[in-house]
Amino acid sequence: MSNIGIPGGTTINAGLLAWIDEMAKLCKPDSIHICDGSQAEYDALCAQMVAAGTMIKLNEAKRPNSYLCRSDPRDVARVEDRTFICSVSKADAGPTNNWMAPDEMKVRMTKLYDGCMKGRTMYVVPFSMGPLGSDIAHIGVQITDSAYAVVNMKIMTRMGQKVLDLIGKDGEFVKCLHSIGAPLAAGQADVQWPCNPDNITISHFPEERAIWSYGSGYGGNALLGKKCFALRIASTMARDEGWLAEHMLIVGVENPQGEKTYVGAAFPSACGKTNFAMLQPPKGFDGWKIWTVGDDIAWIKPGADGKFYAINPEAGFFGVAPGTGASTNANAMAACASNSIFTNVGLTDDGDVWWEGMTDEKPAHLIDWKGRDWTPDSTEPAAHPNARFTAPVSQCPSVDPDWENPAGVPISAFIFGGRLSKTMPLVYQSFNWAHGVYLAATMGSEATAAAVGQAAIRRDPFAMLPFCGYNMADYFSHWLSMGRKVANPPPIFRVNWFRKDANGKFMWPGFGDNMRVLKWIVDRVHGRAQGVESPFGHVPTFDDIEWKGLDYPKDKFQELMSIDREQGVVEARSQEELFDKFLHRLPGEFLALRELLKARLWRSPEKWEL
Ligand code: GTP
Ligand code: SPV
Ligand code: MN
Repeated sequence: MSNIGIPGGTTINAGLLAWIDEMAKLCKPDSIHICDGSQAEYDALCAQMVAAGTMIKLNEAKRPNSYLCRSDPRDVARVEDRTFICSVSKADAGPTNNWMAPDEMKVRMTKLYDGCMKGRTMYVVPFSMGPLGSDIAHIGVQITDSAYAVVNMKIMTRMGQKVLDLIGKDGEFVKCLHSIGAPLAAGQADVQWPCNPDNITISHFPEERAIWSYGSGYGGNALLGKKCFALRIASTMARDEGWLAEHMLIVGVENPQGEKTYVGAAFPSACGKTNFAMLQPPKGFDGWKIWTVGDDIAWIKPGADGKFYAINPEAGFFGVAPGTGASTNANAMAACASNSIFTNVGLTDDGDVWWEGMTDEKPAHLIDWKGRDWTPDSTEPAAHPNARFTAPVSQCPSVDPDWENPAGVPISAFIFGGRLSKTMPLVYQSFNWAHGVYLAATMGSEATAAAVGQAAIRRDPFAMLPFCGYNMADYFSHWLSMGRKVANPPPIFRVNWFRKDANGKFMWPGFGDNMRVLKWIVDRVHGRAQGVESPFGHVPTFDDIEWKGLDYPKDKFQELMSIDREQGVVEARSQEELFDKFLHRLPGEFLALRELLKARLWRSPEKWEL
């Protein structure tokens, strides 16, 4: 049964066929379409959405094979307070996750799913997270009534018949159930972005490796391969099987001598992963190249040679549009130049897209993300702050030749960075693995638009606060133990591009100039760079940084790197609040490490300076 004019895929997988049958009985769609992942299928779905008003086809000359979608204004980002980890035991979800007993959640959600697809097609979306057949990759199948989710999953994952062939008769897969929760009565016309904002619920059942998502069509709520599978469910798989599933970009740094060093970096949502993954070396860095492997998620396994190997489980970027432009991220602009989907950005009069920060000059007239006329005098932005582009990784000019290597790329350093306007210096290196895990665990960050209703500032351990599928204290212990699994665990660094001066201005130029910090990190990895000990960790002096091409005053750098003893102690104290939540599950090392931090601060001058 299919209503989109092409036959679709076929499967002989008994488990999958039974599940499709069971879900069809529950959700009661008008038709079922098994996705084969073909271009014809993608085109047919897009054409159908254009006809329904969900998608607008962009100007073929300016933005070939690309579409704009405008979501319901009540469905624009992840909803953390409606996201649940339904482990059997509440303690296994831990104090940082919402929890409900799996049976209770299933009773509630089964009621929601009953008849939820009436008047719609149920799509069956088979996908691989990671290159097909890679040891590090895993298979999922998403059942959804959102054609928008299907076409996004086609860009974001390896999707279609080849995955059905891989799972064959009895292969396993993670079951991902999704509905926008907007059934249609017979003859009822659809709306532009059907969803069910009042009942959004995103549930994870870690023991049975299943996901049930309802009510939202947006991003991480609806593209279940991404945060739900590749982080929340995968993190529990990784705990059980001895690997890591992280909210990390993966980037290769090539120096003029041709030496290539890969690093993994975790920053919270909307804190610069996409930019860093596609960094353009600044003036003064002739001969340096940056190679993009991934911009959001990394799956990392210890290799037989004592190194960590990482893959990007995704095949696309779901990147923040605002702030992305030729001067900040030309690689991202090239990646989304064609074959892309844009959600909640502005529409130009010539049928192209625009958002704040794309160009310095604002277009004289636009249609904004809510479908209203917009001019530079408008008081509201043309694009929603969490507007996104969905673009194939393969279209990124800086894509690494090894980005699809099934064995992954070797990781030589881990970087963790929050968005902190106060206290935290530009960069520091941990004293050892356990201290690095501690630095990552105590990371804080300020709110962004990637999720609704975030506190102004919060602890975001490992940038995984919204994405860890189990007790975060056990996750810390898992990281500590992973350091013992490899011969030489990579050094760990903390960075902060977002420190502000007394006037509220960013003290660090950021973007391409982050290369200067990255070079120091890479040189530290190879034992070539100096540093001195600060209360927080090893730091570079002014002379340890390559300044060619940038006129950055030494005293400003000293300020950027300084540590206020008083604020440092406040920071150490407030780390206790985080730790107290975890009670006995917190790794004992952390208590010792906090005492050492306090001792270093007490010994330091009122203002620690280079
Ligand atoms: P998710 O996709 O939500 O996980 O986020 P991400 O970490 O990939 O976010 P992204 O790279 O899209 O960052 C978005 C925001 O960070 C934009 O507002 C950028 O302007 C800002 N940003 C990125 N790099 C820098 C930097 O070096 N300095 C400053 N000040 N802002 C930056
Ligand atoms: C994030 O919020 O970290 C994202 C976007 O990368 S979403 O896919 O919506 O989670
Ligand atoms: Mn993310």
